[in-house]
Amino acid sequence: MNTSTSATWLEEAWQQGVHKTIRNAKRIQDTFPHISPQGVYDKNDPEWWTAGFWPGLLWLVYRDDPQHEAAADLQRIAASCERQLEDCLRDPDLVDHDLGFVWLLSGVARYRQMGSEDGRRRGMLAANLLAARFHVRGEFIRAWNFRSSMMDTRGVAIIDSMMNLPLLYWASEQSSDPRFRWLAEAHADTVAREFVRADGSICHVVEFDPHTGQKLREHGGQGHAPGSAWARGTAWALHGFALSFRYTGEARYLETAERAADFFLAMLGEDIVPVWDFRAPAEHRAAWDSSAAAIAASGLFELAKLSPRGPTYAAAGERIVRGLYERYSPAESVAEEGLIMQGTVHYPEGRGINVPIIYGDYFYMEALAKLRGYEGLF
Ligand code: GLY
Repeated sequence: MNTSTSATWLEEAWQQGVHKTIRNAKRIQDTFPHISPQGVYDKNDPEWWTAGFWPGLLWLVYRDDPQHEAAADLQRIAASCERQLEDCLRDPDLVDHDLGFVWLLSGVARYRQMGSEDGRRRGMLAANLLAARFHVRGEFIRAWNFRSSMMDTRGVAIIDSMMNLPLLYWASEQSSDPRFRWLAEAHADTVAREFVRADGSICHVVEFDPHTGQKLREHGGQGHAPGSAWARGTAWALHGFALSFRYTGEARYLETAERAADFFLAMLGEDIVPVWDFRAPAEHRAAWDSSAAAIAASGLFELAKLSPRGPTYAAAGERIVRGLYERYSPAESVAEEGLIMQGTVHYPEGRGINVPIIYGDYFYMEALAKLRGYEGLF
């Protein structure tokens, strides 16, 4: 299934994203933006899980036109971000399971674009640290290090992890060592069993007994409550399982991705951007999550190539990403730095509500790139 299209709106959307990213790069430089609450991106810490999205966005733009007059600057800034991120790899307390998000979009992206041996070395180091988080008895990758009164994080895994597994698949390809892939598949199987409900809705956080590995309970996490359906978590699942299928060819991952996608699309209905939790009660439905829409659209373009129902997923992805451009993307003449409006970071904690978010911007541009015919992997 070819997802590529040459529609005028698509070219306008891509060029607008490119121009704004180049404009943003002049100010943001090699810092780590997270949200744009008042039209300007903040500066976040390099150890936060979102630190790879800015260099990833720069590489996405760079790869489309390495001859562009801004290309050398984009490359320089992305490489400088990567050097800063390497410091985090020296401290086991600073790394968590989001090594995939961070390193696929920085060091591994630079290796894929430029053949950089430093990028490969750092990517392999990150993959080794991610593999070391595998819980042998529970067969899951431990998400976080921090201590919490709500749960014992030694036994916690979260749905977002599905997007980190491609770092392990990549490491197996690079090294011809199958262990990374085995760990990724074992984790994906645990997630499919313990997080994906019969109706295709997804749980954000599962706590396992850290000693036995047995499942103890679900937590609402960034969703409304246990049993609810956090929109971005659903998007992580549909996209992440589609990528596991792309790397392994194991049909069970395709089936799981399709279940999550079908649930996402049924709950979205005619909308473009979902409410932050599909099951949020009426008094909590005024927060939206454009990042979930962008992550889902890019994942739907994976399913478009991989699933027998590809045309349905391609059409749904195109409807979403076109709607993001036409209704959520500020015109180039507007000073706003964010590429798409109305994302929500963490509704239960009241953080980043209805604002542009760097991973929303990244996946919006990734979805546009796929629709323009880009078939590679970041
Ligand atoms: N990975 C955390 C989030 O999606 O907000």
